[in-house]
Amino acid sequence: MATIARAHPNIALIKYWGKQQTAGNIPATPSLSITLDTLTTTTCVDTAALDSFTLNGKRVDDPKIAACLAILREQFDIPPLVISSDNNFPTAAGLASSASGFAALIAAINHHNKLEMTLAQQSAFAREASASAARSIFGGYVGLNQPDWVAKPLLDAEMWPLRVVIAITQERPKKVSSTLGMQRSQKSSPFYPAWIADSEADYLQAEAAVERRDFATLARLAEASCLKMHAVMQSSQPPLIYWRPATLACLERIREMQDAGVEVFFTIDAGPQVKAVCTAEFEVEVTQALAGVAGVLRTLTVGLGRGATIEDT
Ligand code: PMV
Repeated sequence: MATIARAHPNIALIKYWGKQQTAGNIPATPSLSITLDTLTTTTCVDTAALDSFTLNGKRVDDPKIAACLAILREQFDIPPLVISSDNNFPTAAGLASSASGFAALIAAINHHNKLEMTLAQQSAFAREASASAARSIFGGYVGLNQPDWVAKPLLDAEMWPLRVVIAITQERPKKVSSTLGMQRSQKSSPFYPAWIADSEADYLQAEAAVERRDFATLARLAEASCLKMHAVMQSSQPPLIYWRPATLACLERIREMQDAGVEVFFTIDAGPQVKAVCTAEFEVEVTQALAGVAGVLRTLTVGLGRGATIEDT
């Protein structure tokens, strides 16, 4: 019988950008994320005669999926699998579809083949496929840091149910993938060493802010981490400019709301979408404000969700 797993994208509030020059796809910096609800990857796995992969109804040959299966098979005896994965949100547009995708895939394979991996082991395999995927194994607030580079849950979603308003400014997939973008920044941005040097302190302060549920401190740290990462991206050669005019217009609108006392802050990943994190009290106001910004195609308002789960059969 087939196994169905679901996982959600996560959004990093303290970003990672860059990899260590070692095996295992290890980030160069720690990161802290929130796992979302509503936006979902649903992955179905079954035993077959040959491996195959279908994404959103289309057969694809994805070298990252093949590599992920190869790494799992170094440790476990896994037969050929037919895998089909569907996202209910735009793929590869800065909404972390690879994070939810690999978290759902690892969870499904683990259950289907009775591998009996712990969540930490699943997180390690997900990280090898796509580092941000390590965090989507868990729900709520999640940290990914040394020494083991396995994600760990920091706080449950229900303990601090912040909301996230996503302003979509472009629906098409990004031109430069995160993996290639990071390599470019590492090689060419003069700011890269400073980015690495600050990252541990940023992470530890954010972890403490999450523990205290200190919105103002988390807001300051998250915006700073985002802008530092984009400074590294934009100072790479050739420059990585993921923003659109509407991206900046959303930032200005968020600043106006902050000045008026609204509890909201922004973050942006390797894409043009703006994610505005706010307290539940301000969710409607933030959604309406960003929906009214010129160039915003649509908004999605989501909460914080669970880690990867298996559908009961
Ligand atoms: O691990 P990847 O390839 O999904 O890259 C994620 C990079 C950022 O989203 C920009 C930052 C992060 O920590 O998620």
